[in-house]
Amino acid sequence: MAESIVSLSDAKIFQGENLILQDVNINVNKGEFVYLVGKTGTGKSSLLKTLYGDLPLREGNGIVAGYDLRQMNWKKVPFLRRSLGVVFQDFQLLTDRNVHENLKFVLKATGWKDNKLMEEKINDVLDKVGLRSKGFKMPFEMSGGEQQRVDIARALLNSPKLVLADEPTGNLDPETSDEIMQLLFQIAKDFNTAVVMATHDYIVINRYPARMLKTERGQVYDSASVTSY
Ligand SMILES: Nc1ncnc2c1ncn2[C@@H]1O[C@H](COP(=O)(O)OP(=O)(O)OP(=O)(O)O)[C@@H](O)[C@H]1O
Ligand SMILES: [Mg+2]
Repeated sequence: MAESIVSLSDAKIFQGENLILQDVNINVNKGEFVYLVGKTGTGKSSLLKTLYGDLPLREGNGIVAGYDLRQMNWKKVPFLRRSLGVVFQDFQLLTDRNVHENLKFVLKATGWKDNKLMEEKINDVLDKVGLRSKGFKMPFEMSGGEQQRVDIARALLNSPKLVLADEPTGNLDPETSDEIMQLLFQIAKDFNTAVVMATHDYIVINRYPARMLKTERGQVYDSASVTSY
């Protein structure tokens, strides 16, 4: 049987006192690629934030990468985060240091100590995103697509079984978006890493079809299970 990496049941997603999504029942398996679509303001980012522990799950059940979202607290969130990779639209690189130093900073912040192992890991993730020779570059010396690749490399540092991406192609031109999509699909396939990607970009979805979860009227509809979708 396929192994689940994300499972929400009867979940409700709140922003403050506002109920954003209800009756949320989602299952994502290891290695699966899933889009999260829906109009602006319908709760895509709120759902992703719940999955990476930025929004508490107040009602229903949720398990992400083996962590129970109802049992989350400030002590456990860093462990949840370490088992995930999160990628955003705006690359979130530190602008005052080069690519290599950006990645090393994250490794140290997540508890790595051995210099040799850190070097190996940095080379490994830069290889995966096709930037092995660009470690010395400063973020401002790189194109948007390259910066997004570094951000994806950063997300892969702790060998996550789940990558959550919030509009990772939102700031990129169509050609560069293509490269990023190919990379994300390849990661899912090669490393059995599930990817949940929020996007508005139907050009991307049409070119790279996959299962879709859609936020609409306060609920999440699943293209894999809803015939009226
Ligand atoms: N930090 C916040 N505090 C209070 N309300 C918020 C916060 N962030 C989002 N919301 C509200 O929650 C609802 C869902 O927002 P969310 O950002 O999840 O939508 P989205 O689908 O990601 O939209 P977009 O496509 O524009 O990124 C909106 O009504 C929004 O105003
Ligand atoms: Mg959003």
